[in-house]
Amino acid sequence: MTLKNNDYILENKLGIKDIFILNEHERKIATFNEIIIRRKNYKKFNFNTLKSMHKELFKEIYQWAGMVRKVNISKGKCFFCPVENIYSFADTIFQKLEKENYLKGISQDEFCKKAADLFGDINALHPFREGNGRTQRLFLYHLAKNAGYELDLNKLDKNKYMTASIESMLVSNDKMENLMKSIIKPLIKE
Ligand SMILES: Nc1ncnc2c1ncn2[C@@H]1O[C@H](COP(=O)(O)OP(=O)(O)OP(=O)(O)O)[C@@H](O)[C@H]1O
Ligand SMILES: [Mg+2]
Repeated sequence: MTLKNNDYILENKLGIKDIFILNEHERKIATFNEIIIRRKNYKKFNFNTLKSMHKELFKEIYQWAGMVRKVNISKGKCFFCPVENIYSFADTIFQKLEKENYLKGISQDEFCKKAADLFGDINALHPFREGNGRTQRLFLYHLAKNAGYELDLNKLDKNKYMTASIESMLVSNDKMENLMKSIIKPLIKE
């Protein structure tokens, strides 16, 4: 499908009505915000943490930054969590993560296995109307940092990352696990 300039434009604080101009500004602002957020340290990783990261990334652009979507969405063949199940699915995901002590104290390989499963779950949750990818990559970056690892999913080849994202919905998390294993490193403290 070819996008026209005024197709699928999300209401935004910048008053932009052209999708290409909005995408350009949105990417630039969120990238700038991400640099600042990466310097922070997080100790807790729950649904509020994910929402606060989304808010910090997109607060200048969208009124609904940090808020859960109110419409059902899909990409390709994948339908993400129905709106009415978002909070209950989020409870399941983040209670499990808390029980697993936010994946601290485990080997690098074990971390990748569990982090890939978590990625698959958060991607399936897709709690925001837009900006889920950047928010889940940032969440994983901080989760790894807190566990003593450097894991930057932005460094992955975009096609391989997308295939692994799709397979995490339709097949398994194995591809994402292997991608994570290919880039993860022990964190060197500054
Ligand atoms: N067909 C698909 N099936 C499953 N997951 C998908 C599919 N297409 C994209 N994704 C996942 O959804 C994310 C995109 O979500 P969204 O557009 O809400 O956020 P974004 O911040 O704009 O993402 P990105 O920066 O990756 O483009 C991707 O990063 C990928 O992980
Ligand atoms: Mg997007």
